[in-house]
Amino acid sequence: MNVIVCDSYEDMSKKAAELTAQMLETKPNGLVSFPGGDTPAGMVKDFVSMVNDGIVDISHANFTMLDEWVGLSVKDEGSCAKFVQDNLIDQLEKPFAHIHMVDGSDNPENQIAALDHFIESYGPLSVSVLGIGLNGHLGFNESGVSPNKNAHMIPLDDVTKNVMHKYFPEDVNPEYGLTQGLNQILQAEMVILIANGAHKAEIIKKAVSGEVTTSVPASILQRHTNCYVVVDQEAAKLL
Ligand code: PGA
Repeated sequence: MNVIVCDSYEDMSKKAAELTAQMLETKPNGLVSFPGGDTPAGMVKDFVSMVNDGIVDISHANFTMLDEWVGLSVKDEGSCAKFVQDNLIDQLEKPFAHIHMVDGSDNPENQIAALDHFIESYGPLSVSVLGIGLNGHLGFNESGVSPNKNAHMIPLDDVTKNVMHKYFPEDVNPEYGLTQGLNQILQAEMVILIANGAHKAEIIKKAVSGEVTTSVPASILQRHTNCYVVVDQEAAKLL
């Protein structure tokens, strides 16, 4: 793992956007995947600026979502699709060649097949940008998930359920996540794991220097040969 400790959230975001852009320079028709949520917001904003300023050309590149809460769609506040639509797709002055959105309100089996099909068609992933959950999850690959899985639906971990209401109201209670599988993530040419804040320090330590175990899915990235862990100083403080 290449650990890059940045001074601030802003620097972390910029670095992750730059690494993504560098990969697309060498792989202009590559497939990139971004998560939704608080952690990637700055990185997505910086990436959009690089595209709109003509620093990176995405006209031949493809994009797929990483994951979604089952039951939520692009219309729902707090969904990953709404984040991607509002912060990425709608902000780009020049679009990706092909985009795959995951619809958590649709039949999960159809959505799993569609996500696998898109990654098979345009992949493997060139760049997988990932956040990390407090339990070490990647996307919704929760503790104990098999590293051999492709896209799947999975019950949400209690740790995930405890934090999810920062994104949507208390009366919205998804029980499952729909996610790219670790097999697809591990096949990415470059993985960029981003994390900021002191609350992520313990899990970043486990992911980077702890035992490689399915109970901490992010630790499996230690086996990836081109993985960048881009963190701010607070998230790095136990390294
Ligand atoms: P966060 O989530 O951006 O809300 O911290 C990260 C994750 O669960 O992957």
